[in-house]
Amino acid sequence: MKPRLFSGIQPSGNLHLGNYFGMLKNAAKLQNKYQSIFCIVDLHAITIKQDPETLRKNTLQTAKHFLASGIDPEKSILFIQSSVSEHAELCWILNTLTKTAEMERMTQFKDKARKNKQNINLGLMSYPVLMAADILLYDTAIVPVGQDQSQHLELARILAKRFNKQYRKKVFTIPKPLIKKRIQGSRLMGLDDPTKKMSKSAPSPNNYIALNDPPKLAAQKIMRATTDSGDQIKTGQKKPGITNLLSIYSLLTHTDGATLEKKFQNKGYGQFKKELSQVVSQFLANYQKKFQKIDDNSAAQILAQGAKKAKEIASQKIIQVKKIVGLA
Ligand code: TYM
Repeated sequence: MKPRLFSGIQPSGNLHLGNYFGMLKNAAKLQNKYQSIFCIVDLHAITIKQDPETLRKNTLQTAKHFLASGIDPEKSILFIQSSVSEHAELCWILNTLTKTAEMERMTQFKDKARKNKQNINLGLMSYPVLMAADILLYDTAIVPVGQDQSQHLELARILAKRFNKQYRKKVFTIPKPLIKKRIQGSRLMGLDDPTKKMSKSAPSPNNYIALNDPPKLAAQKIMRATTDSGDQIKTGQKKPGITNLLSIYSLLTHTDGATLEKKFQNKGYGQFKKELSQVVSQFLANYQKKFQKIDDNSAAQILAQGAKKAKEIASQKIIQVKKIVGLA
């Protein structure tokens, strides 16, 4: 048996280059080495107010992004979180082992609470516990994610150990995060503010290159991206804008940073951005060709089959957990 891999994405129509390099691309590569399970986490998504019709549409779109990125349903399981009710069940049980103070400390909770003052709901706080449930239900060994998820992964490890200790049984596997280095794309920064991560919920669409952006629009976003003082194309702490653009260039062309710095040695920001915008447009055109080939019906079918397979595994785990806790 291959060790198991689990990862998830919130259903948003605006998946971006950060999601692609932070997770999707690595996941597609890892499918051969691990028994892989990918989840579209719609229960997580409703912690922020959603329009029901848009959520439904975005859930299917997200499935198509997984497939366009190379997730192969013959090798991996792809499903929607809410269609396997064991996720919510285990989340409740794990909630009872989680301290509220632990949750209040979570960076993303604090950040989201600041941005959604009108709707600081309990789901938003318990969000990382649901994520732990996602992972622990499947005896997951490894979780490929971007850097922003490392605190959540740590909680999943803590809860797994806490449960095992409290019930004196090795029920849950302790999952390991797989977070690549920054230059390998684990934290792409916003184009309009390179001091913060690229984010699909950013106030301006100029923050990110969406995987579905028309290539022309994406090129404009690159040309408008915030740069730093000076005119050198070089990475460095004082050059967060150029560093971020260089890493996007490097990821898209498989060229290392030093080679790129040399290539653009005596060229200005304008020339560099122009070449990068061509590289980005080309990538998007190719990606979107793959995306468009996937029709809604076959994506829906893959999700239904995936849910069946996921449920088979998750229901076994929940039966075991309920017995141990005294619920069955
Ligand atoms: P989400 O939907 O915000 O993001 C999906 C994946 O993309 C990564 N990512 C980034 N990587 C690099 N640079 C960025 N700017 C960037 N922005 C996002 C994220 O790290 C993530 O890997 N809570 C999770 C979803 C989730 C999950 C899980 C993940 C729910 N349950 C269980 C793993 C295992 C989230 O909101 O991801």
